[in-house]
Amino acid sequence: MLVPKMALVAALMAVLGAGCGDSGSDGSVMQVVVDGDGAFDDVKAVLYLLEQPDVEVLAITMSGTGIAHCPTAAENMSAVLERIGAPSIPVACGRTTPLAGNNEAPEMWRTATDTLSGVDLPDPRPLAGIAAPALLAETISSSDGVVLVALGPLTNVAEAVEADPQLVERIEMIYLMGGAVDVQGNVLYANPAAEFNIWADPHAAAIVFSTDVPITLVPLDATNAVPVTPYLYEAVAAHRDVSAVSQFTADYLEATLLVGGLYHWDELAAVVATDESVATIEDRKLAVVEEGGAQAGATIETADGRPVRVAVDADRQAFEDRFYAAIIGTSDTGLPAWEPDASLTWNGSTCSYQGPDSFPERLIVQINNLGADAMAMITGTYAPGTTTDDLEAFRASNNPETPDWWTQRTLIAVPTGAHDVWVVEGGPETTALCFLDNTRIWEITGPRLPD
Ligand code: RIB
Repeated sequence: MLVPKMALVAALMAVLGAGCGDSGSDGSVMQVVVDGDGAFDDVKAVLYLLEQPDVEVLAITMSGTGIAHCPTAAENMSAVLERIGAPSIPVACGRTTPLAGNNEAPEMWRTATDTLSGVDLPDPRPLAGIAAPALLAETISSSDGVVLVALGPLTNVAEAVEADPQLVERIEMIYLMGGAVDVQGNVLYANPAAEFNIWADPHAAAIVFSTDVPITLVPLDATNAVPVTPYLYEAVAAHRDVSAVSQFTADYLEATLLVGGLYHWDELAAVVATDESVATIEDRKLAVVEEGGAQAGATIETADGRPVRVAVDADRQAFEDRFYAAIIGTSDTGLPAWEPDASLTWNGSTCSYQGPDSFPERLIVQINNLGADAMAMITGTYAPGTTTDDLEAFRASNNPETPDWWTQRTLIAVPTGAHDVWVVEGGPETTALCFLDNTRIWEITGPRLPD
């Protein structure tokens, strides 16, 4: 089909308390509780926090309503802690259904996430023996104050603060990966306005938003600036022997096929929790849309919304330097100031391409969608004898079917606000198109149609 199917890309006041968002600048240790959902980026965010000398991770809870299943998500996290020789940290899982509604990630994605890419893991340490909300409550209430790094749907957190509303007095800040404020969401198959963590349990998010707890949201607006790239895979691989953390991360990345559409979602939230200078933060007033079933989960700006500190952008280089220095165990990361082979930019009125004129066997392309419409980069081949007349006839027909003169190989759908980096297989016979709709198609590289 020449029509984008939005198929593959699943693809969150003031700073209170010493050290919050700037850990250790005064020699203090920031006490952190992590609530996540067991995805690849949650694991890397935890590894980052564990590598911070001025951070103490007190407990890790996993949501059963996110991208992985419970208890597998908690067992995997516990096995990762065992593999890297981390100190003893209690790990627990939460309920497996959202507090309201039945939004759920496709089972195929959940099962795939459960395997953690098949990376080699030892037997997990025993789990905490209590449910996630109870572990959250026990840990937070017995602390002098914690920073909560929330990396998944907010089911566990909502349950804990509903059961004991005074808990929020001991939460200095929630750094929350979730939401999409000025950009499109990433639940393209159900609600393109929503980001996954909020969409998966909108009522839980609304409960947390209804409390007075300070929230710094690290939404897609900021995470869109920090794509996962092959350059970073290579840098970690080159440092695999530095530590148990670098070795595990290298194995993990090697086992995880990187095609594109992945961002450092949770890693950015963890880094912002320890160093806010990597993000641009604005005060906004937000509400969570709860109504509408699958259409729920958007985070909207509204005059009577609750105050939220929102990371609206991120400094990619500063983030990469800080995050990968921790993973690799040296500030000498050898990270390249990477430049993709090509860039494709939709600015709302035209598609512009910079890169090789003929498609190489493998093209690393950054696709920037600065417009208000979803767009796609499509690759394929023209049938012999196809001319621009065929393309003009297709434009005029408004036919959604793939024309018989086009054999499609790849469709990369890119939401608004995204700066995806994709690795695309090609070759000199491959043509790439920038596609908005039938009437807005640009040939960008590879063989062009003759008149
Ligand atoms: O939308 C991105 C979020 O969804 C991340 O937290 C990722 O781990 C997935 O759960």
